Amino acid sequence: MNALASNPIADRDNAISVDDLVIHFHTRAGTVKAVDGVSFDIRPGETFGIIGESGSGKTTLGRALAGLLKATDGHIRYQGREPAALSKAEQRQIRRDYQIIFQDPHAALNPRMTILQSVMEPMEILRDGDARQRQRVAKEALERVGLPAEIGRRYPHELSGGQKQRVNIARTLTLKPRFIVCDEVVAALDVSIRGSVLNLFADLQKELGITYAFITHDISVVSHVSDRVGVLYLGRLMEVGPAAAVTEKPIHPYTQALLSAEPLPLPSDQRDQRRAIRLQGEIPSPLAPPSGCRFRTRCPAAQSRCAEQEPAWREVAPEHWVACHFADSEGGPLDREQSIQHNNNR
Ligand SMILES: Nc1ncnc2c1ncn2[C@@H]1O[C@H](COP(=O)(O)OP(=O)(O)OP(=O)(O)O)[C@@H](O)[C@H]1O
Ligand code: SF4
Ligand SMILES: [Mg+2]
Repeated sequence: MNALASNPIADRDNAISVDDLVIHFHTRAGTVKAVDGVSFDIRPGETFGIIGESGSGKTTLGRALAGLLKATDGHIRYQGREPAALSKAEQRQIRRDYQIIFQDPHAALNPRMTILQSVMEPMEILRDGDARQRQRVAKEALERVGLPAEIGRRYPHELSGGQKQRVNIARTLTLKPRFIVCDEVVAALDVSIRGSVLNLFADLQKELGITYAFITHDISVVSHVSDRVGVLYLGRLMEVGPAAAVTEKPIHPYTQALLSAEPLPLPSDQRDQRRAIRLQGEIPSPLAPPSGCRFRTRCPAAQSRCAEQEPAWREVAPEHWVACHFADSEGGPLDREQSIQHNNNR
């Protein structure tokens, strides 16, 4: 059997269930509410995209999903199981199964180690097999990510950014993960090679059944790779739904604003041109998020109710969830404004 073959994933459970997750950082300036009550599931074998502006809490959420940060409150369950309730051996297994790959491919590699040593390192830390087995798995992983065998003898500074990111992917694959958080994994790469690295992630998913959480602020990337997308703003989810629905017909004013800031890749792009909404000002501080709806200080449709009441998390269409007082199956408040304007202009 192929040494990299993944554990089959039981499809009776979600790969991950996040339930009212809170992650706060206590700093001298006060409590940073980086993630402040989010709930969603990631299903086995899917790619769940996570988008949002800088500072919205994407990396914090991703690190928590990979088990690198403890929840201040709320729960993350892995295939229905809470790590704290598991035996030490099961917890160790979860730490292997749930991995994260970061944006900067260079930072993760030790400049004094050869590439082969770097790829073997996670297995050494976890005492996987003997030296010969580790070498075999590492070489197989390098081959799997499309790197020539001789690259194992080289050092990180001798590799391109794309090659280094492939080495990081190989390192992660040696642990046979079920789930990988990909945090801006192509953002630091030259545009010309992003597509081939994204294709590698897609091939690995098909072949090994790996589930991904794909964090990015590049909407074209997220719409290309995701099955479903979650939109994060100031530590809260604003919208979650099928990728096509969220990226082509978003309902929440924040998602609409994020998308209208994106240049359209093709003249034939299906996105509705009437949704040109300027995102004004900076994202507020997570030390003191606005009352009620967090987006209200920048929302063109905000009303007094938005400051007083936090919008409920509602399923406005099948699988399509939105947190806005004025959203329903017909669309969001800005859609209605536009259709009123449109009718008045006729
Ligand atoms: N260890 C920490 N201590 C204190 N504050 C933190 C810590 N880590 C993150 N933060 C703060 O939490 C908020 C969310 O940060 P996070 O890195 O999750 O955002 P992000 O969405 O990944 O942003 P970017 O797109 O810039 O990567 C920010 O205000 C950040 O300054
Ligand atoms: S609840 Fe109010 S402020 Fe929030 S998105 Fe909806 S209209 Fe805008
Ligand atoms: Mg980040």
